[in-house]
Amino acid sequence: MDTAKTLINVNGIEVIYNHVILVLKGVSLSVPESGIVAILGGNGAGKTTTLRAISNLLKGERGEVTKGTIELRGERIENLTPSDLVRRGVIQVMEGRHCFAHLTIEENLLTGAYTVQSRGEIEANLQKVYAYFPRLKDRCKSQAAYTSGGEQQMCAIGRALMSSPSVVLLDEPSMGLAPQIVEEVFNIVKDLNTREKTTFLLAEQNTNMALRYADYGYIMESGRVVMDGTAQYLASNEDVKEFYLGVGGAQRKSFRDVKSYKRRKRWLA
Ligand SMILES: Nc1ncnc2c1ncn2[C@@H]1O[C@H](COP(=O)(O)OP(=O)(O)OP(=O)(O)O)[C@@H](O)[C@H]1O
Ligand SMILES: [Mg+2]
Repeated sequence: MDTAKTLINVNGIEVIYNHVILVLKGVSLSVPESGIVAILGGNGAGKTTTLRAISNLLKGERGEVTKGTIELRGERIENLTPSDLVRRGVIQVMEGRHCFAHLTIEENLLTGAYTVQSRGEIEANLQKVYAYFPRLKDRCKSQAAYTSGGEQQMCAIGRALMSSPSVVLLDEPSMGLAPQIVEEVFNIVKDLNTREKTTFLLAEQNTNMALRYADYGYIMESGRVVMDGTAQYLASNEDVKEFYLGVGGAQRKSFRDVKSYKRRKRWLA
């Protein structure tokens, strides 16, 4: 991973909602070309806000980046519109899936191709999506409203793939899905990453699952990155295990408490 080129570089960003609420307090992270990077952390840590800052979907939420920079292949992108970003290969799959309930699966997928001009490319992308997600092919004529949660998540990812992205920002892919389906979705993400070289930046509360598939992870708390490292390092780190992987049974409220507790212990020793 050290030799891979950086695709996205987020440098010290602050995000404010409604002109007053400071939610991201200087977040930095980087995503290498063809990597799978996970942003981890509990409710309200700032994962979704970070993804939205990159895809510039903050405006609809009355949010704005007030400090720091975001670069795609070394070029600043904070002022590009979401459509410009899709054209440059950056697309977000929103938390909670958001399929068009009254459209069929295939119609949903086709809406993802709005930036693609060539009919041939659209057809090829559709067939590629069906090859990765055979379940979507089976349900292609079904209205999204009548498909399962797993199929809707696959549809949301498939729709993103219709724009031929280089990086997919994937918000909580595991949310509300049975473990077996989560596994199926993550396996497809891994396949897309290996075979198509699609880069993924995913936000997940399911630390265990995310660290099994990602190369690198950032742990966020209260709008800050509190720790980062390779997935292997994070998965074996005692503090991460204790607080996020439920090993050890500690009752602490925050990852930062774990660290200050250790510091206190050192002082008292
Ligand atoms: N539109 C908004 N207006 C005001 N505050 C917001 C808005 N969206 C999010 N926030 C606040 O920003 C903080 C970070 O929220 P965010 O959704 O980024 O967290 P998250 O890590 O994605 O959490 P979750 O795991 O619950 O999805 C929270 O305190 C949240 O209340
Ligand atoms: Mg979120």
